[in-house]
Amino acid sequence: MTADPAPDRLGELLTQVLGSVGGEDPRLRDLVGGLVTHLHAFVREQRPTEAEWLRAVDFLVRTGQACTDTRNEFILLSDMLGVTSAVDEVNHTGPPMMTPSSVEGPFHAPAPPRPMGAWIAEGPERRRGEPTVVHGRVTDCDGVPVAGAVLDIWQANDTGLYDSQDPEQHDGNLRALLTTGDDGTYWFRTVKPSSYPVPTDGPVGELLRAIGRHPMRPAHIHIKIHAAGHRPLTTHLFVAGDPYLGSDAAFAVKDALIADFRPSTDPRFGMDGPFLAAEFDIRLVKEGDPR
Ligand code: BEZ
Ligand code: FE
Repeated sequence: MTADPAPDRLGELLTQVLGSVGGEDPRLRDLVGGLVTHLHAFVREQRPTEAEWLRAVDFLVRTGQACTDTRNEFILLSDMLGVTSAVDEVNHTGPPMMTPSSVEGPFHAPAPPRPMGAWIAEGPERRRGEPTVVHGRVTDCDGVPVAGAVLDIWQANDTGLYDSQDPEQHDGNLRALLTTGDDGTYWFRTVKPSSYPVPTDGPVGELLRAIGRHPMRPAHIHIKIHAAGHRPLTTHLFVAGDPYLGSDAAFAVKDALIADFRPSTDPRFGMDGPFLAAEFDIRLVKEGDPR
């Protein structure tokens, strides 16, 4: 008899479980089989005690219980463990010049259509915040302008709150749907976003504290783009110089998504005082592009 018979028994157990995975759907069989294989490898490697395993199960139960119609604690968990970014990574490959994608996060909501150049900050942040113009061009990866691209934009205010978290903001504040014209350009007026903490009052916050992690996301603006004949893109524009760019709690930062917010007096934007300007061109991938 060996000193530690567990590994052989563990191997047999895994083989038995994998042998029990059937059903009609071959993709589901692969996914469940892969998950079981990795979970068993985790147990083999970490050898959790029964108390530790029950604690993990309790954590997952509480994560489910924290979910409501407007809060998904499981997505937050996936975001905080970098799994959402990993899924994003494997699903959005393409030509090197394309604008990279980034996670959607939990704060997307229907946005009001607005004219190009609109002010999207209509709450108290408009008085307090730093006036900012975001502008750029939507093109394909060969530089051809994309007309009729719909940009769905959402951001937190100068204190790091989205409209849905802040009784001082009305629904639709700091959100917009903008449609590009023939030259593919877009622009809007807003206030500079601020870095903010992800929600920490649930089990995920508990986990972050227990493993010594901060909950901060670097300042950003979310942009989701749909244009006929092009792959849809969900991405972020990050503010250069933000102290959390190197330690985003959601692991969503990519260098190509960071833009300078530079002081400007450019008269083209009709601002009535000094402001910050951020230029962010967006390169979409054409539908059917094999890369
Ligand atoms: C966000 O940017 O809105 C976000 C992304 C991931 C987790 C929490 C918030
Ligand atoms: Fe966000």
